[in-house]
Amino acid sequence: MATKPTDTKKTKKKPAKAKAPAMTDGRLIVVSNRVPDVKGGKVQAGGLAVALEEALLAAKEGVWFGWSGRVGSNSHSRPEVTEAGPITYITMDLSRKAYNEYYNGFANRALWPLFHYRIDLATFSREHQARYMEVNTMFGDELSHYLKPGDTVWVHDYHLIPLGQCLRRHGHDQTMGIFLHTPFPAAEVLIALPTHRELVQALAAYDLIGFQTENDKRAFADYIRYEARGTVTKDGRVSAFGRKFRIAVFPIGINPEQFEGPVANPKQMSWARDLKERSGDGSWLIGVDRLDYSKGIAQRFAAYERMLERYPAYRGWVSYFQITPPSRGEVAEYKQIRRDLEAQAGHINGRFADMDWVPLNYINKSYSRDRLALFYRACGVGLVTPLRDGMNLVAKEYVASQNPSDPGVLVLSRFAGAARELTDALIVNPYDVNSVADAIAQGIEMPLDERRRRWQSMMKVIRKNDLNRWRETYLAALAACGAERSAA
Ligand code: UDP
Ligand code: G6P
Repeated sequence: MATKPTDTKKTKKKPAKAKAPAMTDGRLIVVSNRVPDVKGGKVQAGGLAVALEEALLAAKEGVWFGWSGRVGSNSHSRPEVTEAGPITYITMDLSRKAYNEYYNGFANRALWPLFHYRIDLATFSREHQARYMEVNTMFGDELSHYLKPGDTVWVHDYHLIPLGQCLRRHGHDQTMGIFLHTPFPAAEVLIALPTHRELVQALAAYDLIGFQTENDKRAFADYIRYEARGTVTKDGRVSAFGRKFRIAVFPIGINPEQFEGPVANPKQMSWARDLKERSGDGSWLIGVDRLDYSKGIAQRFAAYERMLERYPAYRGWVSYFQITPPSRGEVAEYKQIRRDLEAQAGHINGRFADMDWVPLNYINKSYSRDRLALFYRACGVGLVTPLRDGMNLVAKEYVASQNPSDPGVLVLSRFAGAARELTDALIVNPYDVNSVADAIAQGIEMPLDERRRRWQSMMKVIRKNDLNRWRETYLAALAACGAERSAA
């Protein structure tokens, strides 16, 4: 098998946290398009980053491989290797062309809209697809140099679906799994992609494909049965494209303690008090989403406007905070949704604002998770109304941040993966503006007993299906797949 290349930039960084007990015998190789920036020993916040870092710490030795987040001029950059305790980070820059056509192009203008049921927004370009395959091949060729027998490879998300296939072509027979953080679309939607067969065949290179919900798993199984003419057993054993592999559901969770903790931190207490004073006896609503059309922000704004029309008593008393960090800003559809939301926010404020009241605080910046925990806790209603979402961690974070004796209410779209678990939220259809408006009002008015009951039931699920459980169950299932293949 391939040998380690000498042509690399290598830096040593401050070791990461103490090692957790080993979970796998060999090394764990995590691959994701985004890799946290570990420069200066600082690991980025964010659900996925935290989950994967902990998985790597729990392995005896781990590698995290992916894009550096930098766009360079070279068409083929040298990998940069950074050691931080038991984790080795190996990252590569993307050329401008690769960034435009692999990341902005195929990943975010074809796969993302398609996987979120927005065929109308998808652009299928052969050039973009060729670059997607090229970047996956480049990553696979590079990673191949570092793989050792006994390693376990865990790939994440839609950017890197063909990577496993590329590693198999190099002759690597290690156990390999992929987890899709997005929804997996119904077969009738997926077949709009001209090269749907190649994409699903590439998934067959893995030993285990993990999905967020039963719905996603079922959509994949339908494709295998009716398009690929393969077989799927009740317990998720798939036979298709000349390979045998497994599919299963692993709903991603959060570490709830991280959201309960910051409020108890004395440094943050004065901030929390200040927030409380500013709200007076009024009620606050909150939404936290990347600026993405899949999040249903435009429909949510419309529902809020409808609520102000239908319940005039709330005018001057309810305020809505929408925290929306810009995302994928070079992609045309994201530029468009940004313009649309600015216009809509301006319209709502123009129509209803008064000298002493701003109905909609539309904020285009990102906050640390400690700050978010305070915002969540200060707001009586959390609005999570995506048109489609793999899971939606914000829904779980909002609930985990609440004061147990006076918790807020979650209004949650039935199209978020989280709705499968958080059945005690106020579940809404985000396309139905009137009923979302009514659900917001119901949340504002909900009696304390009912709020407590719903919150306790949701917290039970959030604590049970936490981030550790997600990671551990996935890796245990992947190890079992590997053992089964070796025994066959
Ligand atoms: N987030 C953050 N700061 C912000 C906005 C969001 O740290 O200003 C985090 C948020 O806490 C959550 C993640 O970004 O952990 C968003 O995950 P989610 O599953 O809700 O949506 P995604 O962006 O992955 O589609
Ligand atoms: C979603 C995707 C992730 C992605 C994240 C942020 O959560 O599932 O794979 O990393 O959005 O998007 P970005 O394009 O900035 O990486």
